[in-house]
Amino acid sequence: MDKIVVLDFGSQYSHLICRRIREFSVYAELVPYDISYDELQKLNPVGIIFSGGPSSVYNSDAPNPEGKIFEMNLPLLGICYGHQLIVNKFGGKVKRANKEYGSSLLTIDNDEDLLNGVGKSVRAWMSHGDEAEQIPKGFKVIGHTENAKAAAIASEEKSIYGIQFHPEVVHTEQGTEILKNFVLKVCGARQDWTMEGFIDSAVEKISRIDGNVLCGVSGGIDSTVVALLIHKAIGKRLKCVFVNNGLLRLNEEKEIEKMFKDNFKVDFTSINAVDKFLEKLKGIEDPERKRMIVGEEFIHVFSKFAETNGPFKWLAQGTLYPDVIESGVSKGPAAIIKSHHNVGGLPDWLNLEILEPLRELYKDEVRKIAKILGVPEKLFMRHPFPGPGLAVRIIGEVTPIKLSISKVASKIVEDELMEAGLYEKVWQAYAAVGDDRAVGVVGDERRYGNIVMIRVVDSVDAMTADWTRLSHGLLEKMSNRITNEIEDVTWVTYAISSKPPATIEPQ
Ligand code: XMP
Repeated sequence: MDKIVVLDFGSQYSHLICRRIREFSVYAELVPYDISYDELQKLNPVGIIFSGGPSSVYNSDAPNPEGKIFEMNLPLLGICYGHQLIVNKFGGKVKRANKEYGSSLLTIDNDEDLLNGVGKSVRAWMSHGDEAEQIPKGFKVIGHTENAKAAAIASEEKSIYGIQFHPEVVHTEQGTEILKNFVLKVCGARQDWTMEGFIDSAVEKISRIDGNVLCGVSGGIDSTVVALLIHKAIGKRLKCVFVNNGLLRLNEEKEIEKMFKDNFKVDFTSINAVDKFLEKLKGIEDPERKRMIVGEEFIHVFSKFAETNGPFKWLAQGTLYPDVIESGVSKGPAAIIKSHHNVGGLPDWLNLEILEPLRELYKDEVRKIAKILGVPEKLFMRHPFPGPGLAVRIIGEVTPIKLSISKVASKIVEDELMEAGLYEKVWQAYAAVGDDRAVGVVGDERRYGNIVMIRVVDSVDAMTADWTRLSHGLLEKMSNRITNEIEDVTWVTYAISSKPPATIEPQ
């Protein structure tokens, strides 16, 4: 398989570069910027990309790749910080400039090569503090913006390119075209990365493991796909366990059991641990503590199951790349944003090795795999649901009343979106509840009740998200139903913050 290797200099967008490239069926892999020359050679890439990053080439601790990497004679594209590294390395000059964030107009000066077919000018997403003041010998400027005279440079002879903007973010018009020009035309990569190919190689790798596998299934798309892949590889050596922790969507536990029993031939056990989870969460308000507690409790339930149904050698989990990158345990230097309970390994005493076949994938790639594996459509179109469940949708302490409000109100939000034909168009949708209360009048009576917050977002990969512009009529219907059908709720609000600066979940 032809491969593009992306060196990660710490930008939040680094993995998006891989994702965009994979979208046009070329395999791309993210590696730390300090990968050794020998290791990089072993990966045998057809081209290299330097990602952006928060550093300045002037900083004494600025991340630098091993020198020999520049001499590999492979096509090279530097993005943002990567662009400045190239300018610096080949004898140009980088200067500190006014910080530039957001969209700028990129004028194309030469469209023969990297910028072929993108038009005369495009909106390009900038996020930088330094810029190229003088370009290296043998390079030419192929694009500029008002503030960055050398926003895109090229040495066609060496097949080395630098761009100040981020082609990987959706806000850059024709960003994918630019990446395609580099990957397909300059590197000559074949488009041979497909989800069918991923399944074959994952099944082949898993079939080589020895021992039995315990797989926690949540009923969500990720863990279901993990279970099916492993089942395909090792059949009866896999046992699936579903834990009802009381933090699920309304009636979800029953639906999941039915779905597994009706559709798949895997070994499936459902465990009711509602009381244990809720007991442990009593009095806990801090979101990260809640995540830790839920994570620990899952491990306890699994280990108890393993004691009586084992021996197991492996614990499989449906961890995806966004979980990994946001927990700061990605391969690169991105900072911790939220810890995700299913990332970061297992306690030593559990004595199980971890199996995460989807660790490198994005949600939409997993959905494609689900479809190929014959997962019922109803399941793979279901919105993602966080591992700690309603514990991160309930602000403050998790109490039975807040759980019940969030469950019923979220069901109303989902049902109304389905009714309006919008459920599958939005990324996630739910109703959160906290301790804030507001006065209402019901009949002739004054009532002091809870405030519910509806959150509906659009996203492609959960890395960024925007609030969905639902019609006022639909919001009104949701609000009316929530206040009419849930006695404890007096007010309904709609969350209109995008990610960033907010996140998708309130906790
Ligand atoms: P945030 O709230 O960080 O969420 O914007 C990004 C995506 O991750 C999900 N999420 C989690 N998933 N464990 C999970 O397995 C967690 O602790 C967790 N927190 C958030 C969230 O639903 C969204 O899809």
